[in-house]
Amino acid sequence: MIIDCDPGHDDAIALVVAGCFADLVGVTTVAGNAPVTHTTRNARIMLDLIGSSAPLHRGAERPLVAPPRHAPEVHGESGLDGAVLPEPSRPEDSRDAVGYIIDTCRTEEGLWLVPIGPLTNIALALRAAPDLAGRIAGISLMGGGTHGNRTPAAEFNVWADPEAAAIVFGYGGRLIMSGLDVTHQLQATPERIARVREVPGQLAAIVADLFDFFLSTYVPRHENLTGGVLHDACAVMALTHPHLFVTRDHHVVVETSGDFTTGMTLIDTRRHRHKSPPNCTVQWEVDSEAAFGAIVGAVGAFSH
Ligand code: BDR
Ligand code: CA
Repeated sequence: MIIDCDPGHDDAIALVVAGCFADLVGVTTVAGNAPVTHTTRNARIMLDLIGSSAPLHRGAERPLVAPPRHAPEVHGESGLDGAVLPEPSRPEDSRDAVGYIIDTCRTEEGLWLVPIGPLTNIALALRAAPDLAGRIAGISLMGGGTHGNRTPAAEFNVWADPEAAAIVFGYGGRLIMSGLDVTHQLQATPERIARVREVPGQLAAIVADLFDFFLSTYVPRHENLTGGVLHDACAVMALTHPHLFVTRDHHVVVETSGDFTTGMTLIDTRRHRHKSPPNCTVQWEVDSEAAFGAIVGAVGAFSH
């Protein structure tokens, strides 16, 4: 898989999970939780921490149409506040994430793209190289849901670049969606963070500190959450641990303009016989205990 990310606390853990359980072919970065300079630096650090030599390419610094908007209230100004992080040792391989995605998917057919930030890079790649739709295995993304987090209707990744999201949801190939309905079931609660802290080694200590920070930004803002939400891990685990999820296929479109609904994913859950055919496999439930167990296992695998 190629992961396109904006680390981001939950992106960081998604990289750890992918490094452990998947063939992580490459990583691209995008502006989202923080400016792309920050998200790229954070991705470099995380790849160092898991000892990955996967290429890392910096991508879009702003959405296709919308102004750049970030989420310091969730992830801090750096995008990855809360832990003392080592200086990154590796450089970025280029500033052409889109070119990297296109070239790599043309060279190696059957890759999964796993976007876990705003969908700018992926949309630009699909628009410049429509043949990619027939060359990749599919796209497993974190975004959307039947409710929002940035607005009542819109989830952050889709809201941040709705035009890009509309291109991706309409691309025509296999699509898996980890939306808020499922991701809110996977929380790093105090009890779970304590399990990470018990794991010996540098990565576990850093991840536990990151989770503590993430919990401190999530819990006070929500009546119904007891931990930080590990959204992005679901999009990776959709491929590495598919048996942990309950999914159903639906037709899903993205609202790009609305008085109150810009960035909303409209999931057709009707039981009508005459409706648009499904274009998306939507995750609805996760076995969160098993999923968090796998996360602890991944952290342990890289922690010494
Ligand atoms: C998404 O937005 C970001 O804050 C997270 O990293 C995740 O990708 C959740 O809405
Ligand atoms: Ca993200």
